[in-house]
Amino acid sequence: MEWGMKNRLSRLIQADGKALFLPIDHGYFQGPTHKLEKPGETIKPLLQYADALMLTRGVLRNCVDPAMDKPVILRVSGGTSVVGEDLANEAITTSIQEIIRLNVSAVSMSVFVGSKYEHQSLTNLTKLVDACEDYGIPVMAVTAVGRELEKREARYLALCCRIAAELGARVVKTYYCSENFEKVVEGCPVPVVIAGGPKTETQREVFDFVYDGVQKGAIGVNLGRNIWQTEHPVAAIRAIRAIIHDNYTPEEAQSLFEQVKAGKA
Ligand code: R5P
Repeated sequence: MEWGMKNRLSRLIQADGKALFLPIDHGYFQGPTHKLEKPGETIKPLLQYADALMLTRGVLRNCVDPAMDKPVILRVSGGTSVVGEDLANEAITTSIQEIIRLNVSAVSMSVFVGSKYEHQSLTNLTKLVDACEDYGIPVMAVTAVGRELEKREARYLALCCRIAAELGARVVKTYYCSENFEKVVEGCPVPVVIAGGPKTETQREVFDFVYDGVQKGAIGVNLGRNIWQTEHPVAAIRAIRAIIHDNYTPEEAQSLFEQVKAGKA
């Protein structure tokens, strides 16, 4: 692997081999998502606990201080919306020149395996990989399910992750599943990070699935709503960080969460 690629990946994946990516890209198809109306304000207290920030160029340019020192994962697919016909009908939305100009550490795009737009999204991935590899920029593929959240089971996720890695993604983001998640990770020759999904009923559910996912081989998370849509986002990100980087159990994470919430840690 060339120096530039290695350098960018090592900014994202920490020395312990783990990573906590904070995504705030939801507006690219959902508009002003709850608690993300002012993304610059949302991330202020959280950034110090994240290993990287995932977002679109519009939010990066307009809401994020260029002097910040966190690596950026730029979302470069889109062109659809929640009120449109099909979320899978995405295109690549950002040129390689813009990607370089914004000095990002990686780019990210969605693939929609099994959808009407499977071929389009997978060839979007291969073209993006070709363009980015020339400049040592890693591509993180997002295995997206659109509105069909029930697709989040091991056989399907393993298929998506493996295809994304085979086509050149350097990191794959996928959903956690409670059964056979280890098979998803084992079948994927590049690092896997877990997406959070819609906000859960309790914070503990998040600690449980992040812990289990990491035990089963994920290197960490790319997790947004279950941090910044919660009532105590700093407590949530610190507890999740402790699971990923400090080997906390869900019980220990819950206890840290309570302490931070109470202003005691
Ligand atoms: C949504 O499509 C975005 O790509 C998010 O980055 C991704 O879903 C992770 O965020 P969350 O944890 O909120 O699901």
